[in-house]
Amino acid sequence: MDSIQAVFIKSAAKAKDYPVSELPEIAFAGRSNVGKSSLVNVLVNRRNLVRTSSTPGRTQLINFFDVNERLVLVDLPGYGYAKAPPDVRKQWKPMIETYLTKRENLRGVVLILDIRRIPSDGDLEMLGWLDAWNMPAIIVLTKWDKLSKNERNKQATLIAATIKRDKNTLFPFSALSREGRAEIWVEIERRAGINA
Ligand code: GTP
Ligand code: MG
Repeated sequence: MDSIQAVFIKSAAKAKDYPVSELPEIAFAGRSNVGKSSLVNVLVNRRNLVRTSSTPGRTQLINFFDVNERLVLVDLPGYGYAKAPPDVRKQWKPMIETYLTKRENLRGVVLILDIRRIPSDGDLEMLGWLDAWNMPAIIVLTKWDKLSKNERNKQATLIAATIKRDKNTLFPFSALSREGRAEIWVEIERRAGINA
């Protein structure tokens, strides 16, 4: 995916508001503030297509982005933000669950984990759902730039053991250095069944 035209399509909370489209979709999930929106921006070579923020809970709706009219990237609201208003938190689960279980175009889910943290209960719950729905996650370990080589290795091993995955199947990534971008694109294209 070298030449990329990415366009915001719309935001939606309810299924009736999802864009009408037959393009394959890849969704991005993870805890609040982990770096979902930053990953989408790096993938599409845009600094600010998706709003990012150091304040957790920035993304509160499901946001759809068209890429080259070939594929749609879907930025999901993050989970596990304790300070989110109660009505936002209550809405979150049905909103995500409906999207992940009902969206026919969905071809893959990228689950983003912070390389510095042990996966949370929310992360484990999300991984469990995705496995149960036969949608095994593409797992990205982000903020790779924040640790030394030694620490990265140790953390990746620990995270892989916690989520019971082979370490070699996890994708390292940094939104700062853009390391990992090419490999993640290859996997997204494979899941989406496109060759862009
Ligand atoms: P919500 O929409 O609130 O759930 O957050 P999000 O998961 O979309 O996170 P976002 O992309 O807004 O990033 C959160 C913060 O982490 C921002 O301050 C980013 O600049 C920072 N960040 C994201 N990715 C990286 C990375 O790879 N390295 C470093 N150093 N910072 C990052
Ligand atoms: Mg976001």
